[in-house]
Amino acid sequence: MLADTATSTDTAMCTDTANDTTQNRRDNAMNWHALMIAAGETFDGAPLLRREFALETGHGAVTRATLHLTAHGIVEAWINGRPVSGDLLTPGWSAYEWRLRYADYDVTELLEDTSVLGLALGKGWFGGRLGWAGGGSYYGDSLGAFAQLEVEFADGTTQLVVTDQEWTSGPSAVLANDLYDGETIDARLRDDAWKRPGFAGDGWIGVRELEFDTASLTPYIGPRVTRWAALPVQEITTSPSGKTLVDFGQNLVGWIKLRVQGEAGTEIVVRHAEVLEHGELGTRPLRSAKATDRYILSGGVDEFEPTFTFHGFRYAEIEGWPGELKAEDLTAIAIGSELTRIGEFRTSDPLLNQFHENVVWGMRGNFVDVPTDCPQRDERLGWTGDIAAFAPTAAFLYDVDGFLSDWLVDLDLEQQHHDGIVGFVIPDILKMIDQPTDFGPVDSTAIWSDAAVWVPWTLYQAYGDDAVLRRQFGSMAAHVRRVESLLSPAGVWDTSFQFGDWLDPDAPPEDPAKAKADTGVVATACAYRSATIVAETAKLLGRTEEQAEFEALAARLRQAFNAEYVRDGVVKSDCTTVYALAIVFGLLSVADEEFAGTRLSELVAEADYRISTGFAGTPFITDALTQTGHLDDAYRLLLERECPSWLYPVTMGATTVWERWDSMLPDGTINPGEMTSFNHYALGAVADWMHRVVGGLSALEPGYARVLVAPQPGGGLTEAETSLATPHGTVSVRWSLDGDDLTVDAELPDGVEGVLRLPGRDDQTIGAGRTTETTALPAVADVAR
Ligand code: BGC
Repeated sequence: MLADTATSTDTAMCTDTANDTTQNRRDNAMNWHALMIAAGETFDGAPLLRREFALETGHGAVTRATLHLTAHGIVEAWINGRPVSGDLLTPGWSAYEWRLRYADYDVTELLEDTSVLGLALGKGWFGGRLGWAGGGSYYGDSLGAFAQLEVEFADGTTQLVVTDQEWTSGPSAVLANDLYDGETIDARLRDDAWKRPGFAGDGWIGVRELEFDTASLTPYIGPRVTRWAALPVQEITTSPSGKTLVDFGQNLVGWIKLRVQGEAGTEIVVRHAEVLEHGELGTRPLRSAKATDRYILSGGVDEFEPTFTFHGFRYAEIEGWPGELKAEDLTAIAIGSELTRIGEFRTSDPLLNQFHENVVWGMRGNFVDVPTDCPQRDERLGWTGDIAAFAPTAAFLYDVDGFLSDWLVDLDLEQQHHDGIVGFVIPDILKMIDQPTDFGPVDSTAIWSDAAVWVPWTLYQAYGDDAVLRRQFGSMAAHVRRVESLLSPAGVWDTSFQFGDWLDPDAPPEDPAKAKADTGVVATACAYRSATIVAETAKLLGRTEEQAEFEALAARLRQAFNAEYVRDGVVKSDCTTVYALAIVFGLLSVADEEFAGTRLSELVAEADYRISTGFAGTPFITDALTQTGHLDDAYRLLLERECPSWLYPVTMGATTVWERWDSMLPDGTINPGEMTSFNHYALGAVADWMHRVVGGLSALEPGYARVLVAPQPGGGLTEAETSLATPHGTVSVRWSLDGDDLTVDAELPDGVEGVLRLPGRDDQTIGAGRTTETTALPAVADVAR
């Protein structure tokens, strides 16, 4: 069967990924000829679609062929049986109501005179389960595919092959698929003939057109999801109850690829979990996510890779394996958005290094197209507060400019359709669920909604490109105005629902919002920080009216904060988080800040250097201590090993950062709370302080055109090494202590200037190239001042 081919010589081509909204607008004007098509029936939620076509003759050679591809659901594509790319989970998850990304592939090399374009659809975020309420298919009832293949010939003619009524659809070997629940593949049903010309098409039927507005189509701004690591099995054991368990030695996000041979019809079941509890697979934290893959064998050698799901796991339980399971039969495949590593950090302390490694793994596993809270249970949502806390760390470890810029476009869109409210999660599926939370009517909330301001500001600071501020300014300003509308007559933000210092370790497991810190104090402090940043952004962008508006608001918030919450230096609720925020956000007078620093140091000591902060305070407490001359306390907090602390999970064998300080209790029991993930990046936000203060590398100007080299040794560390591939080249700082002699070795790229600040010495300007200085370290108490 051959396709009719439309000929178009004026098709606007756009194969570069866009990096601003101008590009988006231009691209929406693209000449789309494809339709969104669905299979003639559901085919178990994983249909195949195919189109056979002949290349036009008489136009000379093919000079370039480009496939534009997207879906309602997730889509994989082949031309003549060869995959068009290694991308996974295309088109990812965006605010589909208004914005559906498409991928572009150069497929020139894959075409033959007669070719087949084949597509496989899975449910993904569009058609699968989302959230903990048990529902799914929030975006629509039918999976659909949208493909436009543009073949350019030497004479300038373009031949189009597009998804339309001429396609056919049929069943695949995938019998079930869901991001949360896993995938079932029956290898007996596999037959690749459909991907090649001349397929008979028995059992195949037509397709139907779905209603679809091409105005929502937009190119990717950020990276695609790909496989980024393959991990071998570390150990195969038998659990106390007799189950076969596999340990990959690392908590990761992806799936297990396996190779097996057994009698046709044999079923293998693979269940995943992040931890073992008393020797058995610890699946309770997954809540309703089944995280189970099932494979039915063909009788020959079968390879399975479940690319329509993903799991957060270190361990797997394997049931039904024919014969003896060997380590080489299984490989864990880690997937995630394709990100370039730019920041490195290492010290003389192996535990601290492991913690840092855990931060990196936690980030990779939760940067799967959307920055998520966690990757394993029935949640995996773009919780705004988590990335608000973690963005500075993320922006140092990897180049996340595209990744987070893409997500911010969705944040802006959701906000525009919600009266300026920045939702708890982006893309916002909570709005589609009846009674999504116990938290009352959804409105903007501190830290979470502040992501609208803090994330773009972080990107600007990290990469020095103010385009992100230009793009997001409307969203940033709308957020702060929304918050202003929520202030009480006294001028503080104590009127609406707040998560506050979420997961304060002193809050009961079943009530993580019940923190020591007063929610009004936390919210008003955050509002002040956001208003200040938006005022500064307005100034940068030359928007004088808005600058004046937000400067005045910031001044009012600061005044109200002090009037309502500060008495003789004591900040209301007198706990670590409120002092940390007040100090770092600059809310206090000089005298009160000094008092706050002393009080914070006392409180930290009273808690025996165990952590006493939650989501709000944790990213800032070490900075607050450093800033007020209590560096030693910051190090004691950082290096504490008893629960709760950053290093306690490391002593328990953690390989990612946990959601709760005690996700696993010291006796090896999983925390009884409903919400217990072992892969949450938020509390890893302290790594940002580690890079700047322990490592000694920070930006003096956005994008690191000027850098500060100021290591502040402590905590018994004898050396540290930090480097960052900045937009101007790589900056590295290495220090070592020999007795009291501190040697600092800094290397700056051409065009970057630095300030070298050594304990007890005057600042020194340094230029490109290598600078090595040795100085005697003053007593610890003098160091931080
Ligand atoms: C998520 C958090 C999130 C929080 C807010 C949780 O279920 O996992 O990380 O920020 O809810 O309530």
